[in-house]
Amino acid sequence: MAKRYGNYIGGAWKDAASGRTFDNRNPADTSELIGSFADSGPEDVERAIACAREAYPRWKALPAPKRGEILYRAAEILVKRKEDFSRDMTREMGKVLDETRGDVQEAIDMTYYMAGEGRRQFGQTTPSEMPDKFQMSVRQPIGIAGLITPWNFPMAIPSWKMMPALILGNTVVIKPATDTPLSVVNLIEALEQAGLPKGVVNMVTGSGSSVGSPLMSHKDVGMVSFTGSTEVGRRVSEACAPAFKHCHLEMGGKNIIMVMDDARLDLAVEGALWGGFGTTGQRCTAASRVAVHEKVYKEFLDRFSAGAKGLRVGNGLEPKSQVGPCVNTSQLETVERYVQIGKDEGARLVAGGSRLGKGDHARGYFHEPTVFADCSPKMRVAYEEIFGPVVSVIPVKSLEQAIEVGNSVDYGLSASIYTQDIGKAFTAMREMYTGIFYVNAPTIGAETHLPFGGTKNTGNGHREACVQALEVFSEWKSIYIDFSGKLQRAQID
Ligand code: UN1
Repeated sequence: MAKRYGNYIGGAWKDAASGRTFDNRNPADTSELIGSFADSGPEDVERAIACAREAYPRWKALPAPKRGEILYRAAEILVKRKEDFSRDMTREMGKVLDETRGDVQEAIDMTYYMAGEGRRQFGQTTPSEMPDKFQMSVRQPIGIAGLITPWNFPMAIPSWKMMPALILGNTVVIKPATDTPLSVVNLIEALEQAGLPKGVVNMVTGSGSSVGSPLMSHKDVGMVSFTGSTEVGRRVSEACAPAFKHCHLEMGGKNIIMVMDDARLDLAVEGALWGGFGTTGQRCTAASRVAVHEKVYKEFLDRFSAGAKGLRVGNGLEPKSQVGPCVNTSQLETVERYVQIGKDEGARLVAGGSRLGKGDHARGYFHEPTVFADCSPKMRVAYEEIFGPVVSVIPVKSLEQAIEVGNSVDYGLSASIYTQDIGKAFTAMREMYTGIFYVNAPTIGAETHLPFGGTKNTGNGHREACVQALEVFSEWKSIYIDFSGKLQRAQID
């Protein structure tokens, strides 16, 4: 019997009020049931919010360094349980074990980082215009943070949101993706064992319409942080707008690798394979486009397509697998649909192109790593986010053209250049309008102590991770202390 997991509300694991559940299955082998989870509704969200509200004053009053100690202990527990949690994640989401270990590691990094912020959270002090007056700015929590998290980084991204929210004194209600609730259960268990008081973090599992919507529009939720598609992000933004609720959105990408004629092609090919097909292409930072200088185009393409054909697709728990399955049927169907679109548009299919359904692949959502060549920048496969193992290669004549192609999409998350020429690297670094940029490395691999996020339709001006995350989960308060013993009028006296 697969285990039954409840919601985590007020420090207790509880079934959904309706008693309904949904199944979480292994995308590499759908006959494996990972567990059944609470199929919750608005009444469960209401209870979770009530507990978060009740816990808020005490959590906020706990000195931030003490909150940090709890986070620090949670990070230590994550370190100890890393292997188990990584395996759980591969089973529920599909990506290969090396990558799920990286995902848990990213949660560990973020938890340690934010534990340290318990002793920083610096504000400013600045001289007053007037004598005997002191002034400073301090951060204050917002209240209840509503977090809506995706399945592609099932523990890392929840930690990016939860840890800064907590260290600042907010309480949390999180709705994990229905494909990956177990990794959030595991994260919460680490916090619980670390001594997090009841009600400070609450989790409600279920669909976007019955859990996400009531959560984001609830009057007591002070801010919402969402990672997912641009389409859903727009709805989150609209739900937050009437009450001017803070809203942090992290959405799609169509990230480019630019390969110049002086690039080290071995590095560029290896980077493009990792950037394009790592996590089965299911990263917002995935390198789903490669613009290659015409002088090295043929050679790059030959090597890149051979590399794509050579990738071993399989169950992520098998050490030999390099690329796991798509996360669910709907993602797999999206990939198949785009492969057809690419063919119809006249892009040249040079690797992959088909779903894998035989032998070891028979019970999973596997798709071949797929490469389209000779793409023009406006072809849909080269322009729209696919979120799967499909890379479009675009020939270009110059650095300037590569930059133009790079900036021509609606997204602005990550970009990269392969070149040995420092001038080209700096030019591209300056001209690409993205939130992240790499030189001689693919578009993936951000670390937790630099801001993460993007421009245009990728985000709404905020950044996760690093100290920038503190901006998302707090409000500034400017404080003026007049000890002159008389009325001093700013800008007048
Ligand atoms: C994502 O692409 O959805 O930068 C998140 C990276 C990871 C996080 C990616 N550290 O590739």
